[in-house]
Amino acid sequence: MAEAVQAFPLAELRKRKSVKWRNFPADVLPLPIAEMDFPIAEPIKAALRDMIDRSDTGYLGPFPEMFEAFQNFSQTKWGWKPDLNQMRIATDVGVGSVEVIRTLINPGDKVVLNSPVYDNMWRWITEAKAELVDVPLKENGMEYSFDFEGLERAYSSGVKVHLLCSPHNPAGILFTKEDQVQIAELAKKYGVIVISDEIHAALTFPPHKFLPFLSVSEVAKEVGICVTSASKAFNLAGLKCAMIITENEALKARINTMPMSFAFRASLFGAVAATAAYNDGRDWLDGALKTLDQNRLLIRTLIDTKIPAIGYRVPDFGYLAWLDLSNLGLGEDPTKTLLEQGKLAVNSGVVYSPKHRNHVRLNYGTSGEIIEEAFNRILRCL
Ligand SMILES: Cc1ncc(COP(=O)(O)O)c(C=O)c1O
Repeated sequence: MAEAVQAFPLAELRKRKSVKWRNFPADVLPLPIAEMDFPIAEPIKAALRDMIDRSDTGYLGPFPEMFEAFQNFSQTKWGWKPDLNQMRIATDVGVGSVEVIRTLINPGDKVVLNSPVYDNMWRWITEAKAELVDVPLKENGMEYSFDFEGLERAYSSGVKVHLLCSPHNPAGILFTKEDQVQIAELAKKYGVIVISDEIHAALTFPPHKFLPFLSVSEVAKEVGICVTSASKAFNLAGLKCAMIITENEALKARINTMPMSFAFRASLFGAVAATAAYNDGRDWLDGALKTLDQNRLLIRTLIDTKIPAIGYRVPDFGYLAWLDLSNLGLGEDPTKTLLEQGKLAVNSGVVYSPKHRNHVRLNYGTSGEIIEEAFNRILRCL
Protein backbone atom coordinates (compact mmCIF):
# COMPACT_ATOMS: atom_id res chain seq x y z
CA MET A 1 0.00 0.00 0.00
CA ALA A 2 1.43 3.34 -1.04
CA GLU A 3 1.89 5.91 1.69
CA ALA A 4 0.06 9.22 1.27
CA VAL A 5 2.50 11.87 0.00
CA GLN A 6 2.64 14.87 2.34
CA ALA A 7 3.01 18.46 1.13
CA PHE A 8 5.84 20.62 2.45
CA PRO A 9 4.92 23.13 5.16
CA LEU A 10 4.23 26.69 4.01
CA ALA A 11 7.55 28.12 5.30
CA GLU A 12 9.44 25.55 3.22
CA LEU A 13 7.30 26.17 0.13
CA ARG A 14 7.97 29.90 0.30
CA LYS A 15 11.65 29.16 -0.38
CA ARG A 16 10.78 27.60 -3.74
CA LYS A 17 11.97 29.42 -6.84
CA SER A 18 9.10 28.31 -9.10
CA VAL A 19 6.66 30.88 -10.46
CA LYS A 20 3.85 29.77 -8.14
CA TRP A 21 5.94 30.89 -5.18
CA ARG A 22 7.55 33.94 -6.79
CA ASN A 23 4.56 35.69 -8.29
CA PHE A 24 2.97 37.06 -5.12
CA PRO A 25 4.01 38.88 -1.94
CA ALA A 26 4.59 36.78 1.19
CA ASP A 27 1.20 37.57 2.75
CA VAL A 28 -0.62 36.00 -0.22
CA LEU A 29 -1.48 32.29 -0.25
CA PRO A 30 -0.78 31.24 -3.86
CA LEU A 31 -3.05 28.53 -5.26
CA PRO A 32 -2.93 29.15 -9.01
CA ILE A 33 -0.49 27.43 -11.48
CA ALA A 34 -0.67 23.68 -11.96
CA GLU A 35 2.23 22.41 -9.90
CA MET A 36 2.10 20.47 -6.65
CA ASP A 37 3.48 21.31 -3.21
CA PHE A 38 4.76 17.74 -2.69
CA PRO A 39 8.31 16.41 -2.63
CA ILE A 40 9.02 14.59 -5.90
CA ALA A 41 9.40 10.79 -5.98
CA GLU A 42 12.63 9.33 -4.55
CA PRO A 43 13.53 7.37 -7.74
CA ILE A 44 13.34 10.64 -9.70
CA LYS A 45 15.54 12.42 -7.18
CA ALA A 46 18.08 9.58 -7.36
CA ALA A 47 18.17 9.62 -11.16
CA LEU A 48 18.70 13.39 -11.24
CA ARG A 49 21.33 13.28 -8.50
CA ASP A 50 23.23 10.66 -10.47
CA MET A 51 23.26 12.98 -13.49
CA ILE A 52 24.55 15.88 -11.39
CA ASP A 53 27.18 13.73 -9.66
CA ARG A 54 28.57 12.69 -13.04
CA SER A 55 28.21 16.19 -14.52
CA ASP A 56 26.10 14.57 -17.24
CA THR A 57 24.55 17.88 -18.22
CA GLY A 58 24.80 17.93 -21.98
CA TYR A 59 22.24 17.86 -24.78
CA LEU A 60 19.41 15.39 -25.06
CA GLY A 61 19.73 13.00 -27.99
CA PRO A 62 18.03 9.69 -28.72
CA PHE A 63 16.31 8.46 -25.57
CA PRO A 64 14.49 5.19 -26.35
CA GLU A 65 14.34 4.27 -22.67
CA MET A 66 11.77 7.02 -22.04
CA PHE A 67 9.54 5.71 -24.85
CA GLU A 68 9.85 2.15 -23.50
CA ALA A 69 9.07 3.36 -19.96
CA PHE A 70 6.00 5.25 -21.16
CA GLN A 71 4.85 2.33 -23.31
CA ASN A 72 5.00 0.05 -20.30
CA PHE A 73 3.34 2.57 -17.96
CA SER A 74 0.55 3.19 -20.46
CA GLN A 75 -0.02 -0.48 -21.14
CA THR A 76 -0.33 -1.35 -17.44
CA LYS A 77 -2.39 1.68 -16.54
CA TRP A 78 -4.69 2.09 -19.53
CA GLY A 79 -4.22 -1.03 -21.67
CA TRP A 80 -2.79 1.10 -24.51
CA LYS A 81 0.58 0.05 -25.95
CA PRO A 82 1.82 2.93 -28.10
CA ASP A 83 4.12 2.16 -31.02
CA LEU A 84 7.77 2.84 -30.09
CA ASN A 85 8.45 3.87 -33.68
CA GLN A 86 5.87 6.63 -33.57
CA MET A 87 6.96 8.52 -30.46
CA ARG A 88 8.85 11.80 -30.56
CA ILE A 89 10.31 14.14 -28.00
CA ALA A 90 9.05 17.69 -27.51
CA THR A 91 10.13 20.47 -25.18
CA ASP A 92 6.81 20.42 -23.37
CA VAL A 93 3.16 19.89 -24.22
CA GLY A 94 2.74 23.56 -25.16
CA VAL A 95 5.66 23.68 -27.59
CA GLY A 96 4.76 20.22 -28.94
CA SER A 97 1.16 21.22 -29.63
CA VAL A 98 2.13 24.48 -31.34
CA GLU A 99 4.68 22.69 -33.55
CA VAL A 100 2.20 19.96 -34.47
CA ILE A 101 -0.45 22.55 -35.35
CA ARG A 102 2.08 24.50 -37.45
CA THR A 103 3.01 21.33 -39.29
CA LEU A 104 -0.61 20.45 -40.03
CA ILE A 105 -2.09 23.78 -41.09
CA ASN A 106 -1.55 26.86 -43.20
CA PRO A 107 -1.72 30.21 -41.40
CA GLY A 108 -5.35 31.29 -41.06
CA ASP A 109 -6.76 27.73 -40.98
CA LYS A 110 -9.29 26.97 -38.27
CA VAL A 111 -8.49 25.16 -35.00
CA VAL A 112 -11.18 24.17 -32.49
CA LEU A 113 -11.06 24.15 -28.71
CA ASN A 114 -13.79 23.54 -26.13
CA SER A 115 -14.14 26.26 -23.51
CA PRO A 116 -13.88 26.60 -20.60
CA VAL A 117 -10.41 25.21 -21.23
CA TYR A 118 -6.76 25.49 -20.15
CA ASP A 119 -5.89 29.10 -20.94
CA ASN A 120 -2.65 28.42 -22.81
CA MET A 121 -4.55 26.44 -25.44
CA TRP A 122 -6.09 29.74 -26.56
CA ARG A 123 -2.58 31.18 -26.86
CA TRP A 124 -1.15 28.14 -28.66
CA ILE A 125 -3.71 28.56 -31.44
CA THR A 126 -2.85 32.25 -31.81
CA GLU A 127 0.87 31.43 -31.73
CA ALA A 128 0.38 28.92 -34.56
CA LYS A 129 -1.32 31.72 -36.55
CA ALA A 130 -4.57 29.75 -36.77
CA GLU A 131 -8.11 31.05 -36.52
CA LEU A 132 -9.61 29.98 -33.19
CA VAL A 133 -13.06 28.39 -33.21
CA ASP A 134 -14.58 27.83 -29.77
CA VAL A 135 -17.16 25.07 -29.44
CA PRO A 136 -18.02 25.47 -25.74
CA LEU A 137 -18.80 22.39 -23.69
CA LYS A 138 -22.50 22.11 -22.82
CA GLU A 139 -23.13 23.11 -19.24
CA ASN A 140 -25.68 21.80 -16.81
CA GLY A 141 -24.83 23.33 -13.44
CA MET A 142 -21.31 22.10 -12.78
CA GLU A 143 -21.69 19.18 -15.23
CA TYR A 144 -20.08 19.47 -18.66
CA SER A 145 -20.44 17.46 -21.87
CA PHE A 146 -19.66 17.74 -25.57
CA ASP A 147 -21.88 19.74 -27.89
CA PHE A 148 -21.68 17.33 -30.82
CA GLU A 149 -23.99 19.40 -33.01
CA GLY A 150 -21.80 22.44 -32.44
CA LEU A 151 -18.73 20.35 -33.12
CA GLU A 152 -20.09 19.04 -36.42
CA ARG A 153 -21.09 22.55 -37.47
CA ALA A 154 -17.57 23.76 -36.74
CA TYR A 155 -15.90 20.78 -38.44
CA SER A 156 -18.04 21.23 -41.54
CA SER A 157 -16.94 24.88 -41.79
CA GLY A 158 -13.42 23.76 -42.71
CA VAL A 159 -11.68 23.17 -39.36
CA LYS A 160 -8.27 21.50 -39.74
CA VAL A 161 -7.38 20.63 -36.13
CA HIS A 162 -9.28 19.97 -32.90
CA LEU A 163 -7.29 20.63 -29.76
CA LEU A 164 -8.83 18.27 -27.24
CA CYS A 165 -8.09 18.59 -23.53
CA SER A 166 -8.47 15.03 -22.23
CA PRO A 167 -9.00 14.77 -19.32
CA HIS A 168 -10.50 18.22 -19.29
CA ASN A 169 -8.88 21.08 -17.36
CA PRO A 170 -10.60 22.92 -15.67
CA ALA A 171 -13.98 21.12 -15.98
CA GLY A 172 -12.50 18.14 -14.10
CA ILE A 173 -14.11 15.53 -16.35
CA LEU A 174 -13.01 12.47 -18.31
CA PHE A 175 -14.42 11.72 -21.74
CA THR A 176 -16.15 8.41 -22.33
CA LYS A 177 -15.23 5.92 -25.00
CA GLU A 178 -18.44 6.81 -26.85
CA ASP A 179 -17.56 10.54 -26.78
CA GLN A 180 -14.12 9.92 -28.19
CA VAL A 181 -15.26 7.38 -30.79
CA GLN A 182 -17.83 9.93 -32.00
CA ILE A 183 -15.22 12.70 -32.19
CA ALA A 184 -12.94 10.40 -34.19
CA GLU A 185 -15.77 9.52 -36.63
CA LEU A 186 -16.64 13.18 -37.13
CA ALA A 187 -12.97 14.08 -37.55
CA LYS A 188 -12.56 11.44 -40.25
CA LYS A 189 -15.71 12.60 -42.03
CA TYR A 190 -14.50 16.21 -42.22
CA GLY A 191 -10.73 15.70 -42.50
CA VAL A 192 -9.91 17.07 -39.04
CA ILE A 193 -6.86 15.99 -37.02
CA VAL A 194 -7.46 15.63 -33.27
CA ILE A 195 -4.58 16.60 -30.98
CA SER A 196 -5.35 15.00 -27.65
CA ASP A 197 -3.53 16.71 -24.76
CA GLU A 198 -3.38 13.94 -22.16
CA ILE A 199 -1.00 15.55 -19.69
CA HIS A 200 -3.33 15.05 -16.69
CA ALA A 201 -4.26 11.44 -17.52
CA ALA A 202 -2.08 9.68 -14.94
CA LEU A 203 -3.81 11.63 -12.17
CA THR A 204 -7.20 9.96 -12.71
CA PHE A 205 -8.88 8.86 -9.48
CA PRO A 206 -10.08 5.26 -9.40
CA PRO A 207 -12.67 3.93 -10.03
CA HIS A 208 -12.77 6.43 -12.92
CA LYS A 209 -10.92 5.13 -15.94
CA PHE A 210 -8.96 7.28 -18.35
CA LEU A 211 -9.08 6.22 -21.99
CA PRO A 212 -6.30 7.44 -24.30
CA PHE A 213 -7.77 8.84 -27.53
CA LEU A 214 -5.51 6.61 -29.64
CA SER A 215 -6.91 3.52 -27.91
CA VAL A 216 -10.63 4.06 -28.52
CA SER A 217 -10.94 2.92 -32.16
CA GLU A 218 -9.09 2.28 -35.41
CA VAL A 219 -10.50 5.55 -36.75
CA ALA A 220 -9.05 7.42 -33.75
CA LYS A 221 -5.61 6.09 -34.72
CA GLU A 222 -6.11 7.53 -38.22
CA VAL A 223 -7.06 11.01 -37.04
CA GLY A 224 -5.43 11.36 -33.62
CA ILE A 225 -2.16 12.62 -32.17
CA CYS A 226 -1.40 12.35 -28.47
CA VAL A 227 0.72 14.99 -26.75
CA THR A 228 1.65 14.14 -23.20
CA SER A 229 4.31 14.42 -20.52
CA ALA A 230 5.22 13.09 -17.08
CA SER A 231 5.43 16.68 -15.90
CA LYS A 232 1.93 17.14 -14.49
CA ALA A 233 1.53 13.85 -12.61
CA PHE A 234 5.08 13.79 -11.25
CA ASN A 235 5.61 17.52 -10.82
CA LEU A 236 8.45 17.94 -13.31
CA ALA A 237 7.26 20.94 -15.33
CA GLY A 238 10.54 22.84 -14.96
CA LEU A 239 12.52 19.96 -16.46
CA LYS A 240 11.03 20.35 -19.94
CA CYS A 241 10.33 17.12 -21.72
CA ALA A 242 7.19 15.81 -23.43
CA MET A 243 6.12 13.32 -26.10
CA ILE A 244 4.20 13.47 -29.38
CA ILE A 245 2.67 10.13 -30.36
CA THR A 246 0.96 8.93 -33.55
CA GLU A 247 -0.42 5.49 -34.45
CA ASN A 248 -0.81 5.83 -38.20
CA GLU A 249 1.84 5.73 -40.93
CA ALA A 250 0.37 8.60 -42.97
CA LEU A 251 0.15 10.89 -39.94
CA LYS A 252 3.60 9.77 -38.86
CA ALA A 253 4.98 10.92 -42.19
CA ARG A 254 3.24 14.30 -41.86
CA ILE A 255 4.41 14.86 -38.29
CA ASN A 256 7.96 13.79 -39.10
CA THR A 257 8.25 16.80 -41.40
CA MET A 258 8.63 18.92 -38.23
CA PRO A 259 11.99 20.71 -38.11
CA MET A 260 14.81 18.43 -36.90
CA SER A 261 16.05 21.09 -34.51
CA PHE A 262 12.82 20.67 -32.59
CA ALA A 263 13.98 17.51 -30.77
CA PHE A 264 17.05 19.31 -29.38
CA ARG A 265 14.94 21.80 -27.47
CA ALA A 266 13.90 19.39 -24.72
CA SER A 267 16.03 18.75 -21.67
CA LEU A 268 18.11 15.69 -20.82
CA PHE A 269 17.02 16.13 -17.20
CA GLY A 270 13.40 16.00 -18.26
CA ALA A 271 13.90 12.76 -20.18
CA VAL A 272 15.83 11.14 -17.32
CA ALA A 273 13.22 12.22 -14.78
CA ALA A 274 10.31 11.05 -16.95
CA THR A 275 11.96 7.66 -17.46
CA ALA A 276 12.43 7.22 -13.70
CA ALA A 277 8.87 8.41 -13.10
CA TYR A 278 7.27 5.93 -15.51
CA ASN A 279 9.51 3.04 -14.46
CA ASP A 280 9.72 3.52 -10.71
CA GLY A 281 7.29 6.27 -9.69
CA ARG A 282 4.05 4.27 -9.55
CA ASP A 283 4.10 3.93 -5.78
CA TRP A 284 4.71 7.64 -5.28
CA LEU A 285 1.93 8.43 -7.74
CA ASP A 286 -0.51 6.23 -5.83
CA GLY A 287 0.54 8.06 -2.64
CA ALA A 288 0.05 11.46 -4.27
CA LEU A 289 -3.38 10.39 -5.53
CA LYS A 290 -4.31 9.36 -1.98
CA THR A 291 -3.59 12.86 -0.69
CA LEU A 292 -5.28 14.51 -3.69
CA ASP A 293 -8.33 12.32 -3.18
CA GLN A 294 -8.57 13.46 0.46
CA ASN A 295 -8.12 17.06 -0.67
CA ARG A 296 -10.84 17.03 -3.34
CA LEU A 297 -13.23 15.62 -0.71
CA LEU A 298 -12.05 18.11 1.93
CA ILE A 299 -13.08 20.88 -0.46
CA ARG A 300 -16.53 19.27 -0.74
CA THR A 301 -16.81 19.26 3.07
CA LEU A 302 -15.53 22.83 3.47
CA ILE A 303 -18.04 24.07 0.90
CA ASP A 304 -20.93 22.12 2.41
CA THR A 305 -20.19 23.25 5.96
CA LYS A 306 -18.84 26.79 5.48
CA ILE A 307 -19.80 28.27 2.10
CA PRO A 308 -22.55 26.18 0.49
CA ALA A 309 -23.22 28.91 -2.10
CA ILE A 310 -20.05 27.86 -3.97
CA GLY A 311 -20.71 25.61 -6.98
CA TYR A 312 -18.31 22.63 -7.08
CA ARG A 313 -18.18 19.26 -8.77
CA VAL A 314 -15.62 16.88 -7.22
CA PRO A 315 -13.09 16.45 -10.07
CA ASP A 316 -12.48 13.02 -11.61
CA PHE A 317 -8.72 13.63 -11.81
CA GLY A 318 -5.89 15.89 -10.81
CA TYR A 319 -5.53 18.77 -8.40
CA LEU A 320 -7.53 21.61 -9.89
CA ALA A 321 -10.89 22.59 -8.40
CA TRP A 322 -13.28 24.54 -10.64
CA LEU A 323 -15.42 26.71 -8.38
CA ASP A 324 -18.47 28.77 -9.30
CA LEU A 325 -18.50 31.85 -7.05
CA SER A 326 -21.44 33.58 -8.78
CA ASN A 327 -23.56 33.53 -5.64
CA LEU A 328 -20.94 35.04 -3.32
CA GLY A 329 -21.34 38.66 -4.43
CA LEU A 330 -17.60 39.22 -4.81
CA GLY A 331 -18.03 41.97 -7.39
CA GLU A 332 -17.02 42.32 -11.05
CA ASP A 333 -13.82 40.32 -10.64
CA PRO A 334 -13.95 37.77 -7.79
CA THR A 335 -10.25 36.92 -8.26
CA LYS A 336 -9.33 40.56 -7.56
CA THR A 337 -11.49 40.65 -4.42
CA LEU A 338 -10.00 37.37 -3.17
CA LEU A 339 -6.49 38.69 -3.76
CA GLU A 340 -6.98 42.15 -2.29
CA GLN A 341 -9.25 41.34 0.65
CA GLY A 342 -8.53 37.67 1.28
CA LYS A 343 -4.85 37.56 0.26
CA LEU A 344 -5.65 34.43 -1.72
CA ALA A 345 -4.41 33.98 -5.29
CA VAL A 346 -6.38 31.72 -7.64
CA ASN A 347 -6.84 31.64 -11.42
CA SER A 348 -9.76 33.65 -12.77
CA GLY A 349 -12.34 31.68 -14.75
CA VAL A 350 -12.29 34.33 -17.46
CA VAL A 351 -8.98 33.03 -18.83
CA TYR A 352 -10.63 29.66 -19.57
CA SER A 353 -13.70 31.20 -21.18
CA PRO A 354 -15.01 34.75 -21.42
CA LYS A 355 -18.33 33.52 -19.97
CA HIS A 356 -16.84 32.27 -16.70
CA ARG A 357 -15.75 35.47 -14.98
CA ASN A 358 -17.37 34.34 -11.73
CA HIS A 359 -15.56 31.02 -11.68
CA VAL A 360 -12.09 30.45 -10.29
CA ARG A 361 -9.63 27.55 -10.45
CA LEU A 362 -8.01 26.57 -7.18
CA ASN A 363 -5.00 24.25 -6.94
CA TYR A 364 -5.40 21.63 -4.20
CA GLY A 365 -2.10 19.83 -4.83
CA THR A 366 -1.06 20.85 -1.35
CA SER A 367 -1.81 20.15 2.34
CA GLY A 368 -5.23 20.00 3.97
CA GLU A 369 -4.03 22.81 6.23
CA ILE A 370 -3.37 25.14 3.29
CA ILE A 371 -6.73 24.29 1.74
CA GLU A 372 -8.53 25.11 5.01
CA GLU A 373 -6.60 28.38 5.18
CA ALA A 374 -7.70 29.18 1.62
CA PHE A 375 -11.34 28.73 2.60
CA ASN A 376 -10.85 30.92 5.68
CA ARG A 377 -9.51 33.58 3.34
CA ILE A 378 -12.54 33.24 1.06
CA LEU A 379 -14.78 33.61 4.14
CA ARG A 380 -12.98 36.85 5.01
CA CYS A 381 -14.21 38.36 1.74
CA LEU A 382 -17.91 37.67 2.33
C1 LIG B 1 -4.15 20.63 -20.21
C2 LIG B 1 -2.75 21.13 -20.04
N1 LIG B 1 -1.88 21.00 -21.05
C3 LIG B 1 -0.61 21.44 -20.93
C4 LIG B 1 -0.16 22.02 -19.77
C5 LIG B 1 1.23 22.54 -19.71
O1 LIG B 1 2.11 21.56 -20.09
P1 LIG B 1 3.60 21.91 -20.47
O2 LIG B 1 4.22 22.57 -19.29
O3 LIG B 1 4.18 20.57 -20.79
O4 LIG B 1 3.53 22.79 -21.68
C6 LIG B 1 -1.03 22.16 -18.69
C7 LIG B 1 -0.57 22.79 -17.45
O5 LIG B 1 -1.27 22.95 -16.51
C8 LIG B 1 -2.36 21.70 -18.83
O6 LIG B 1 -3.24 21.82 -17.84
